[in-house]
Amino acid sequence: MEVLIHTTATEGAQVVADVVERAVRSGPAVLGLATGSSPLLAYRELIRRHREEGLSFAAVDAYLLDEYVGLPAGHPEFYREVIRRELTDHLDMRSVHAPDGTHPDPPAAAAAYERSLPSVGVQILGIGANGHVGFNEPGSSLTSGTRVKTLTRRTREDNARFFADDVDQVPRHVITQGLGTIGRAGHLLLTATGEHKAAAVAAAVEGPLTASCPASILQWHPHVTIVLDDAAASQLERADFYRETADRKPAWAR
Ligand code: F6R
Repeated sequence: MEVLIHTTATEGAQVVADVVERAVRSGPAVLGLATGSSPLLAYRELIRRHREEGLSFAAVDAYLLDEYVGLPAGHPEFYREVIRRELTDHLDMRSVHAPDGTHPDPPAAAAAYERSLPSVGVQILGIGANGHVGFNEPGSSLTSGTRVKTLTRRTREDNARFFADDVDQVPRHVITQGLGTIGRAGHLLLTATGEHKAAAVAAAVEGPLTASCPASILQWHPHVTIVLDDAAASQLERADFYRETADRKPAWAR
């Protein structure tokens, strides 16, 4: 696991965009996308590189991590809609896929999405303040596949900002890739910023591997990059070591 700590979120976004760019330039790619605030600066940077530097996504297929269930069709907060507005409308991406949050049989839609997933190369992840990844809330099976989950009150409160600050408008159910599904991606790239993520980041990176902190499954994966700003890294006991490792990286390790 590589932990990269940057002074600002903008610097971290450059690193996330660099990892994605490398994957995209190396040939046809399957990219796993997280929605939410954490990757937004990196997405804007990818859009800039597409417009100004000719970075093409024409050989890239994207798969979303998760989707709300129970919103009216076409609702602007469906993750499929958000990712379209924030990223894919501005790129030449070949295809974008998401679980079907409008399906009358959500468990069947979840199973169909799991079956449809190809082998993901780089999977971008955020982390919830309670340690969730995707929408795998604390207590999720460490080997779970894509399925319907219930959101915790904490996550619904955190996401109320996208629903006019009204927690009652935030759906209770979601379809999310499971922790086992996420673990099959080739490279997990988690980004977090801000003090409110510091405890979850510390639990995920330095705590025990436990379903109580679903993001701790990253410790089980052979290729993980965690990109943080100083605030999100502020509760890491080994922060000095991570900084020194990054600062003194030999050329052959870059
Ligand atoms: C979204 C997702 C979630 C978010 C997490 C953090 O697709 O999978 O795990 O990454 O809730 O959300 P933000 O980035 O809005 O703080």
